Amino acid sequence: MMRLDDLLFSQGFGTRRECAGLVAAGRVRVAGATATDPALDLVPDGLAFEVNGQPWTWYATALVLLHKPAGYECSQKPKHHPSVMLLLPPPLRNRGVQPVGRLDQDTTGLLLLTDDGTLIHRLTSPKHHVPKVYEVQTARPVQPAQVQRLLDGVVLDDDPRPVRAEGCQATGDQALQLTLVQGKYHQVKRMVAAVGNHCEALHRSAFGALTLADGPAPGQWRFVTDAERAALVAKRPG
Ligand code: URA
Repeated sequence: MMRLDDLLFSQGFGTRRECAGLVAAGRVRVAGATATDPALDLVPDGLAFEVNGQPWTWYATALVLLHKPAGYECSQKPKHHPSVMLLLPPPLRNRGVQPVGRLDQDTTGLLLLTDDGTLIHRLTSPKHHVPKVYEVQTARPVQPAQVQRLLDGVVLDDDPRPVRAEGCQATGDQALQLTLVQGKYHQVKRMVAAVGNHCEALHRSAFGALTLADGPAPGQWRFVTDAERAALVAKRPG
């Protein structure tokens, strides 16, 4: 059990005093009714509540899926564009969520963020083989030999060991779908360049079993459910 003010504090809604103030001001609803006692004891796991009319679910650690638009940097200290953090509400920013790997400023698509450091490691380590799917628009027509080379492996300039795509297919005359289990710096762009083409536009459509097929819309986010999280960290062959 957890007190309501502690519960709000744990989710990033401010100091304990500020959280107690939110409750006292009638800004918090639990199970459809306004809660007025900051000391109200509740089972936190999965609890649905509202703060200032916005629905929330309690998670011990946050894992959110953001549909990243172009023009945002994943860095905490962005240089030329606003940070993706600005697309998240203050409680999530207060909790210190960080991107799980990075997407370039001009890349769109599925970005995960979490305040769980172990999970970041689990999802970004190539050892764990979490596949990420990228949709590439190329500057020149895709040649079958280019697809084959991406599958066989190409050498990038920072490592003599070749990196290969787990999956690669042409999805149009100038479009490729590439599945990677690593996340090296500019990996897709560098791999496509290494086979003599050029990446004009890049979109990540899937991370493990998570996709953007059912939303959210660009610039929007949602929590990843416990079942989705379990599937993401499930053991994979290889
Ligand atoms: N590979 C890239 O080159 N850029 C990204 O944003 C992601 C993967």
